[in-house]
Amino acid sequence: MARRSIVKEAENLRQRLGNHPIVLVGLMGSGKSSVGRRLAEKLGLPFVDADHEIEAAAGKTIAELFADHGEPYFREGERRVIARLLGQGSQVLATGGGAFINGETRARIRQHGVSVWLKAPIDLLMKRVMKRQDRPLLKTEDPEGVMRGLIEMRYPVYAEADVIVESRDVQHGQMVNDVIRALAQWNGWKRFDND
Ligand code: S3P
Repeated sequence: MARRSIVKEAENLRQRLGNHPIVLVGLMGSGKSSVGRRLAEKLGLPFVDADHEIEAAAGKTIAELFADHGEPYFREGERRVIARLLGQGSQVLATGGGAFINGETRARIRQHGVSVWLKAPIDLLMKRVMKRQDRPLLKTEDPEGVMRGLIEMRYPVYAEADVIVESRDVQHGQMVNDVIRALAQWNGWKRFDND
């Protein structure tokens, strides 16, 4: 798509969103934070990373939260923090990979915003996640096996997202345009008609 028309699409999208957030969901390494940050920039919206907000609220890193209190404690904090963030109006919100799996969080995301699943192939996910060592779920002998298990468990749930965008090994700017185009074509905007 020509540059001018993507700018126009971005403007239209910004207007259609009104007071609602775009919520990015998907596995670790799918590009939620890096694509989300650039998407927010392009739309002139705030970018919020749910994992960072959880860390700020707890005064601990995610790795520390898992190590000191266990995963259920982290999940509870994640649920609460995302509920708060969803009340903040229009923004681009990147969620941690497990957030959308919680039914309550999923319902809340649907109520407040439009969800976008960045769906990435396993080799791209692994290439990206292996660059960082701070994800507790992948601190194991067989991170790829864990990732494959998560794909099997979570993909049917991520598939409930409003919009699905294939995450590719391209510049983030191209992914941003793919997300904008996919949202422009989404036929669910009527959900927000009665605001
Ligand atoms: C998790 C994903 C992480 C983080 C935590 C658990 C998951 O976020 O929330 O380590 O369950 O998939 P990213 O998806 O941003 O890496």
